[in-house]
Amino acid sequence: MTTTDDAVAQGQEHFDALIAEDSRVEPRDWMPADYRKTLTRQVSQHAHSEIIGMQPEANWITRAPSLKRKSILMAKVQDEAGHGLYLYSAAETLGTPRSELNEQLLSGRAKYSSIFNYPARTWADMGAIGWLVDGAAICNQVPLCRASYGPYGRAMVRICKEESFHQRQGWEILYELSHGTEAQKKMAQEAVNRFYGPALQMFGPPDGDSPNSQQSMAWNIKRFSNDELRQRFVDMIVPQAEALGLSLPDPDLAWNEERGHYDYGELDWEEFMSVIKGRGPCSVQRMKRRREAHENGAWVREAAAAYAERQAMASATHQNESSTDRPRPAAQLIGATA
Ligand code: 3HC
Repeated sequence: MTTTDDAVAQGQEHFDALIAEDSRVEPRDWMPADYRKTLTRQVSQHAHSEIIGMQPEANWITRAPSLKRKSILMAKVQDEAGHGLYLYSAAETLGTPRSELNEQLLSGRAKYSSIFNYPARTWADMGAIGWLVDGAAICNQVPLCRASYGPYGRAMVRICKEESFHQRQGWEILYELSHGTEAQKKMAQEAVNRFYGPALQMFGPPDGDSPNSQQSMAWNIKRFSNDELRQRFVDMIVPQAEALGLSLPDPDLAWNEERGHYDYGELDWEEFMSVIKGRGPCSVQRMKRRREAHENGAWVREAAAAYAERQAMASATHQNESSTDRPRPAAQLIGATA
């Protein structure tokens, strides 16, 4: 056995022990290449989703019905930018620079959440996105706060706190509309009808078609399967929809006494596969907008890099100056006079 083999065996043993005791793996720890790869994939896809996810709502900032609604929506969209940044930082600790992750998105090689390829047609869609999309995100992401990779789990804690504000603002928009005029109630119902199916698909394909779930659960990255989380979400939103006075567009939705859960109808998985392959109703528009934003932001990146370089030079000069100014130790002074 070579020294390298020894180091790998020791690293694997330490990693297995961390997973077995449900502890955290930190960037300095040895980790299997596939663990690093799947985390980089999941965390960067999540980051891309946050960044692309700004678009459907940003589209409504100028059209929000009041100054208050405008400022709330603006804060929410800014939060999403922040989530993207924490997540890119977490992904970078796994060794892939952000520029490369970004390149994967811009070139169309990386996935981002299917949900953001649907249009936001009316103001009520801001409510449906907040209630259903952010609600699904919370359901999926709260267990990720316990993900075995430290930087990811810690980023998720803060993200989830902000997501619950997002969900409540969506709920509140829908509540006002569903208790407003007939036209407002109709607009709220139509938004829910459009977002219900795609929100359920956010949890990923059914367990039998999910190639990554089993291994991710064995590594304590995911804590529940796609179908388990989807069921949890359905059980949560049925009574919430009743409280809103809105219906969910699924004729098969029914309480199953034996299972202690709501049964729900089959989702359109053909449409899902087509959306994640880049053929969603807004896929082309979303990527075009993202590329334009990246190009328009070039001057900001250049300015930030130049500023960082100047700061680094100033700090190096300061360190050199202070090391020549520093009083010499007493022993040296004694030696000098002796
Ligand atoms: N949209 C796009 N791609 C999806 C998807 C979806 N809704 N669901 C699954 N996929 C992709 C997977 O990424 C995987 O692709 P790859 O193997 O080519 O990388 C493939 O479909 C097979 O799916 P798996 O179930 O095997 O994949 P995972 O085990 O990674 O599970 C996941 C998918 C549940 C989305 C998981 O990655 C996850 O929990 N990710 C973290 C949360 C996240 O990214 N959420 C995105 C929403 S962003 C958001 O919530 C923003 C907020 O502001 C609303």
